[in-house]
Amino acid sequence: MRVSARADREELEDLAAGLRRTPREIPAKYFYDELGSQLFERITELPEYYPFRLERSLLAECSDEIVAATRPDVLVEIGSGASTKTRFLLDAMRRAGLLRRYVPVDISSEILERVAAELVAEYPGLEVRGLIEDFVREPGGFPDGGRRLIAFLGGTIGNFREEEAVAFLRGVAAEMGPDDRLLLGTDLIKDVRVLEAAYNDSAGVTAEFNRNMLRVVNARAGGDFDPERFRHRAFYDVERHRIEMRLVSLADQTVRLERLPLELELREGEELRTEFSTKYDRALVADLLSRAGLELEAWMPDPEGLFALSLARRVGAAPGA
Ligand code: SAH
Ligand code: AVI
Repeated sequence: MRVSARADREELEDLAAGLRRTPREIPAKYFYDELGSQLFERITELPEYYPFRLERSLLAECSDEIVAATRPDVLVEIGSGASTKTRFLLDAMRRAGLLRRYVPVDISSEILERVAAELVAEYPGLEVRGLIEDFVREPGGFPDGGRRLIAFLGGTIGNFREEEAVAFLRGVAAEMGPDDRLLLGTDLIKDVRVLEAAYNDSAGVTAEFNRNMLRVVNARAGGDFDPERFRHRAFYDVERHRIEMRLVSLADQTVRLERLPLELELREGEELRTEFSTKYDRALVADLLSRAGLELEAWMPDPEGLFALSLARRVGAAPGA
């Protein structure tokens, strides 16, 4: 990846702007250094964290149907991470004799490099073109050519604010040709206890994932956050139908971020907001897509209605032949 000095400066300015807000905020992308990506993989194995397992079952069940309906020879995956569930789609494309290229897009270079090497070995003949990119800054720029299925899985769309989600999806829609399709994974509105348990696991992995963000900020911004001086907090906001994750300062403390530069005076009990995780229903997904110039074509929830996959096409695009 080539990171220009300007992009780096803008990133630090965004971070400083977030830290000056009330409550103070750190963008969710700061979760994902090498350790953060590993912690997320551990989260996906937790008994309380149902979204990963449900989406995996949906993909195991529906991938052939999705591929039959969309006939892609290129799979683009935004926020691909470990690409674990992706194998169901790749396998279905291979069974259909279509599989040609996989384009994983992720900010975490370590995981992307590992996955690219694994997949090249697992799928002989597959062209893997990883893009190390911030999808907030560049929601597009995927290689042209072929018939593309663009997957955005895991419920990661829920980590955007509403307006950001629309802007992001607009960027993706602008990339899409008439035969390209978006495959979107969304976590659904459900019992508050189930939701809150998923973000407050009993093994404390989510708490460690949350606190690790401070180490990532330290490394990028020359900071001296001590993660041990913060407590994890996650709660469901019913009105905005989203989980919020925060880090609560355990003491009055001063934190310095030399590269911003910024000095934060934090009071005991003061909270830093680290993540939203919005939950949807079918109408909310259809509305989000339509505001971005996309049209919901197929809705595939699990039998209990806890998680859903959606297929969408660009508005005005004729259905594929
Ligand atoms: N799709 C996988 C991983 C989800 S975790 C799954 O469903 O299990 C979210 C992924 O998005 C991580 O791999 C993280 O590195 C990536 N990510 C988060 N913010 C990002 C950003 N701004 N730009 C690019 N990738 C990002
Ligand atoms: C990546 N994203 C969809 C996860 C989520 O559930 O919002 C990140 C996560 N945060 C805490 N646990 C998992």
